[in-house]
Amino acid sequence: MNPVPDALSGRLAAALERRSALLGRLRSEQTDAYRLFHGAAEGAAGLTVDRYGDLLLAQSFHHPLQEAQLAELETFYARAFPGLPLIYNDRSRSNSRIINKLSPKRLAAARQPRRARELGVYYRIQGRHAGQDPWLFLDLRAARRRVMREAAGKSLLNLFAYTCGVGVAAAKAGASRVVNVDFSKSSLAVGEENARLNDLGVEISFVRSDVFPALRQLSGLGQPRVARGKRMPPFHKMEKQQFDLVFLDPPRYAKSPFGAVDLVNDYPAVFKPALLCVAEGGAILCCNNAAEVAREAWMDQLQRSARKAGRPIRDSEWILPESDFPSYDGRPPLKMALLRV
Ligand SMILES: C[S@@+](CC[C@H](N)C(=O)[O-])C[C@H]1O[C@@H](n2cnc3c(N)ncnc32)[C@H](O)[C@@H]1O
Repeated sequence: MNPVPDALSGRLAAALERRSALLGRLRSEQTDAYRLFHGAAEGAAGLTVDRYGDLLLAQSFHHPLQEAQLAELETFYARAFPGLPLIYNDRSRSNSRIINKLSPKRLAAARQPRRARELGVYYRIQGRHAGQDPWLFLDLRAARRRVMREAAGKSLLNLFAYTCGVGVAAAKAGASRVVNVDFSKSSLAVGEENARLNDLGVEISFVRSDVFPALRQLSGLGQPRVARGKRMPPFHKMEKQQFDLVFLDPPRYAKSPFGAVDLVNDYPAVFKPALLCVAEGGAILCCNNAAEVAREAWMDQLQRSARKAGRPIRDSEWILPESDFPSYDGRPPLKMALLRV
């Protein structure tokens, strides 16, 4: 069975045509990182093509691209974006790891450190590196844009920070102080590089820590050294403090000795302690990318959980992915909500 229809270049062309106004606007906003083809809604589920500055990145998630399809894709983008190298990462195995080999020339281009720009902020990009995901998630642009509008003069806590895109964007937009928390040393190292690429005049820190003990300490709940009869591993010490803005974007599922992140079954496990770190009159921007969680059910859960925590939500606002991430059913998998408490 052919997973991607033959007229692939027709679909790529239609997608590019649909984006012509958006791409003009993004250019004027100093943005050269965007999704060019979102297969789920544009006729080839499991295939995406992104532009990151002077690099084009194609990824397949369901089936590997056949040779002829890859050739068609390369020919199309070589005409549309002459001179930009295109790297193809096949991530169609169940663990989502990149499995296809590249020619030595392409591999060198894929490993070359580059910069992409979004809303005037520079981000480090590489077509291939030790991890699997690109260093900037493009569907989060809408959230970074919203945080930048909100950030001037405010303190921000960026949880599950990855390469600290949200933290760096907030700092660039005039946040007074930014704290990024993630347990991945290599992701935070890219975050530090992102900070260096921009002219940031504010205090920005990169805390290598499990989010659970960080939140328990920041919120004042406290992290016990022994829990359920088990001695906890050593953890980074933090003082109790609150922030004007908290950004919460956990992975779908992750287990650590300190707790489990599970966006389908237990969002409150991370939401509640994160909410307790929001200063009175502040806001939390939270994300849930589990497609099977409906936004109404998720919002109900957030409202209930906030009431129980004694921090009821005063106002809520949905943030939708921008139009380079079209949805086929009006229910994008990535849900983002800004809640004022
Ligand atoms: C989906 S990414 C977050 C994307 C990020 N918000 C952004 O702006 O690009 C998930 C991140 O969570 C981190 N992570 C997962 N479980 C964690 C935990 N218990 N404590 C700290 N970081 C964790 C991973 O290292 C990864 O960087």
